[in-house]
Formats: sequence, structure tokens, C-alpha cells
Amino acid sequence: MTLQDTTPNTSISKDATWWRQAAVYQIYPRSFADSNADGLGDLKGITSRVNYLKTLGIDAVWLSPFYPSALADGGYDVDDYRNVDPRLGTLEDFDQMTQQLHHAGIKVIVDIVPNHSSNLHEWFQAALASPKGSAERDRYIFRDGAGPNGELPPADWESIFGGPAWEPVGDGQWYLHLFAKEQPDFNWANNEVREDFLKTLRFWSDRGVDGFRVDVAHALTKDVALSDLPSKAELDAHPWDGTHPIWDRDEVHEIYAQWRQVFNEYDPPRIAVAEAWTNSDRRPAYARSTGLGQAFNFDLLQADFDAAAFKKIISFNLDQANIAGSSTTWVYSNHDVVRHATRYGLPLAGDPDSAKKWLLHGADPSVMDAELGLRRARAATLLELALPGCAYLYQGEELGLPEVTEISDEQRQDPAFFKNKGVEVGRDGCRVPIPWEAEGPSFGFGEVQPHLPQPESFGSLSVAAQNGNQGSTLELYREALRLRRELQSDESLQWLDASEGVLSFVRPNGWISVTNFSAQPQTLPEGTLLLSSAPLDEAGRLPAATTAWLRAK
Ligand code: NOJ
Repeated sequence: MTLQDTTPNTSISKDATWWRQAAVYQIYPRSFADSNADGLGDLKGITSRVNYLKTLGIDAVWLSPFYPSALADGGYDVDDYRNVDPRLGTLEDFDQMTQQLHHAGIKVIVDIVPNHSSNLHEWFQAALASPKGSAERDRYIFRDGAGPNGELPPADWESIFGGPAWEPVGDGQWYLHLFAKEQPDFNWANNEVREDFLKTLRFWSDRGVDGFRVDVAHALTKDVALSDLPSKAELDAHPWDGTHPIWDRDEVHEIYAQWRQVFNEYDPPRIAVAEAWTNSDRRPAYARSTGLGQAFNFDLLQADFDAAAFKKIISFNLDQANIAGSSTTWVYSNHDVVRHATRYGLPLAGDPDSAKKWLLHGADPSVMDAELGLRRARAATLLELALPGCAYLYQGEELGLPEVTEISDEQRQDPAFFKNKGVEVGRDGCRVPIPWEAEGPSFGFGEVQPHLPQPESFGSLSVAAQNGNQGSTLELYREALRLRRELQSDESLQWLDASEGVLSFVRPNGWISVTNFSAQPQTLPEGTLLLSSAPLDEAGRLPAATTAWLRAK
């Protein structure tokens, strides 16, 4: 029996286009709410906060991995794709959570991690226990080592987290791991791998899941049949044009065409969004309706708070979405990058590191202007929520949470930190548990100390401290999401004339959004003021780093 039709989803919409302009809220389950006092967030914790999500006004949640995992990479090292980590709950807890979210009219998107499993996955354990050339090893990417006894890696490739991408297994063979060594890459040329993921997609879809976020969607197919592997230098020099030996190969889309057939077995069809960090003009291939259907664009996430940069990115991505026949996606923050309230408080362009600020987790707090950062973040949010397309919000941004820098080396968890000590502090600072209450051992996250330390400042940023407080970031998000539903129209915009440093556009139904990126106050166009990210000045002008929404007269 499948659970597909038995979920009592009184409020959930059957509209097949629900995702096109949805506001999707990313939950990092281990850091959302801890129901059983073990310091780790869990599924029951999420269920206990459904009402919060409902009143926030989002359309869907996306859950980062909650599968059994030794947490070598925060859960992106999956031991078992069709189960729940016992520390986070059970499948019954998952069903209950889905049911409650659906009941509140909120769709559920889960993360699927197809590029690699964990080294504890039963298939990888079987591969280690089996000889070279076995069917068990063929599900992963094993190669003979170089040197007389295979004592050298097959190639000098580096993993994304730093250090070698090949790991020896003691018999002259090595396996490929593009990420941590606990994350062996699957061999997608192997049919068993393909079939197993179809089974996983059906497993969660049958349980009522509405969609999937596809991790490292651009890396699945690799040209490993080569007898001579290219060197790192050759890989680095190779264009990303569909023929790169690892990244964004054209044939990866055969896999997603097959997945699409599975998605379309359901009513409404399951949706998917690709995490594909590839050349922007190659994203439409992932986003087309015969493929995954939608792809993240991380362009705004990588941009400075700058009118010209934003305008170029927005126009480009609306065009790209049209090419794909999809809707575009907007995202400022997620579990991999420095929170944008902090990013926007760092010095702007001119700083040699600014282009990579979104990865600079070790951001120096002494050069950070926290107040300006939050002010810009609020302005950017209103701009984002007025844009056509889908907005992906990351838990805690609705509270204006900053990146947490007060984490000691001993408390850090991210493999990126351990591989790059002293260079990159890793991603823990954006994964610190949510403060629900103004006080308590973990600010209401749970009853005990959380798995990552929360700074004192979290008390005044907590949900309780902001709830009902007009002018708080939480109330700004609530009001913006409410108005967005009311004002939403078809997926287009028209740019309005504006001074330098100002972005102004109107949606088809007269919904105007104006953002002042400049340092001078600006006169607003004609219209009725609906909402602004900060108060207007005494002359009714739009201050610096502020967005206003108006209804055209
Ligand atoms: C992208 C995920 O967002 C990130 O957290 C993870 O480390 C890598 N993929 C590897 O799965």
C-alpha cells in the first residue's frame, strides 16, 4: 500500500503549478527545534513548530537531510536513503510531520543526495568487503592506484573540502570522493544505482513528499571509463561545456529525464530543484520541464548589495527561466554560506575578497557593520519577495540572525574547517540552532545545550522577543509574505525609471517595489505605501538601504 492518497491533507493544494512562485523555507533539521533534550533538532521538533511556519506565511518547507548519518558532512553523508536518523525520529514521526504540515497548507520538499552516499552505507561496506572488479565495487568509482603497487593515487584530484579526492582501501585500489572521504561517489553508469534512486524517489513521494532538492545535481555522471585519468591541472583548465570529465556533463540530463517520469506518476507531479553550481547559461537544461523542472540560481547570493549588479542578475535570470519554461529562484542564504545579514555588513567591492564573501565564514567581526548588514538584508528581502519566481528562505533569516563567529575549534563540526584549518572556518556559523525564547539554556531550542553554541545576542533576536513587535524582522517577513500572496500575479515585471543606485519595478497588477541601494534618500513614485523595510524619512522619502512596496494609483 502506498501512503500517497491516504494523507489527510485538507488544505493542501492539488495545483500542479504551486511551486512556480512559492516561498520555500529551508529547515536544517538538526538546528531547528529539539523535542527530546539531546541537543539535536528533530522531526517532532519541526512538528511542534508547524503553527509558527503557518503564521510565517510560507508555502513549502525544504528539509536538509534527516536520514541516518554519522554526520561527517552534516547529514549529506547518507547511510540509508529510505529511513530517518534515529536521533531525529522515526518514519512515523516523518509521516506525522508531513501530515501536520499539509494540514497547515504547507508542502514538503526533501533533500536527495545522489552524487555520493556515506562510507557507512551498506553498499559501500559491501564494496570494501568485495574484491577488485566485483559488482559491489562497480556501484562506486574504484580505480587502481598508480605506482608499482598502487600506492599512489590514480590522479592528483582535490576534494571540494580540501585534500585528496582519492582514498586508498589497502589492496591497491582507491575510491573517488569529490567531498569528504566519508562520502564515496556513486558510479551512475551502474544501473543498480539508477534503479535504487528511482525507488527512493517513489518511497518519499508515496509518503506524501511534494518535491526534492537535488544535491550536487551537476556531478553525477563522470567520465571514469578513461584509462588515463586527466590531471588536476587538466580538469581545472577544461571548459564546463558539457564535456568536462566531472562537472555538468550533458549526459546527466538522461538521469533527470528518467526522474521526471517518476515525478509525473504523481498528482500533482512531484517537483525538483537542482543544486547545480554551473555556468549560469547551462542552468536551463536542469530547469526544463522534461528534467528536474527548476534550478537554483546563486547569483544574488554571490553579489554585493549593489543596484546595477542586482538589476543585471534579475533580468538575466528571468530570461533564463523563460528559456527553460520554468520559474526562476532567488536565494540569499542557506546552510552553506555566510548569512546575508552578516555578508551585507562587510566592506563592499574594492575589498579583494569581496567576490568570495559568501564563502568567507571567517569574516572578521571587527570590520563588520552589523546594523548596516541587517538593514540591507531587510531591504533585499522585500526586493526578493516582490520578484516573479520562487523565493528560497533559510531558517533564521526571518529573525535577522547573523553568522555566528563565536564557535571554538573544539565545537566546530564542518569538514571544510578540519580540512582547511586556519584558512576557512567552515559553515557552522550559519547552522547554529534557532532561538525561540529570549532565555533558557538554548533559548527555547530544547532543554539542554545545543550541538552548536548560541551567542548571547540570540536572546534579543529570538522569536519570542520579536513576536508581535511591529518593526521586528520577524513581523516584516510575516507582513511581506502575507502581502505577497495577496499581490502575486503572473511571472513578469517591468522596470521603472529610477535614479542611479535605485531599483524600481512594477508587477502586472500595479505592485511596485523600490529599493534604494544608494546613500542618499530618494523620492518614491506615485502610489499607496504598503510596506517598507525601514521607516520613510520625515519628508516621506526612501532612506538609504531601504525597500518600499507601493500600490500604483
Ligand atoms: C551541497 C550541500 O548543500 C552541502 O552542504 C554539502 O556539503 C555538499 N553538497 C555535499 O553533499
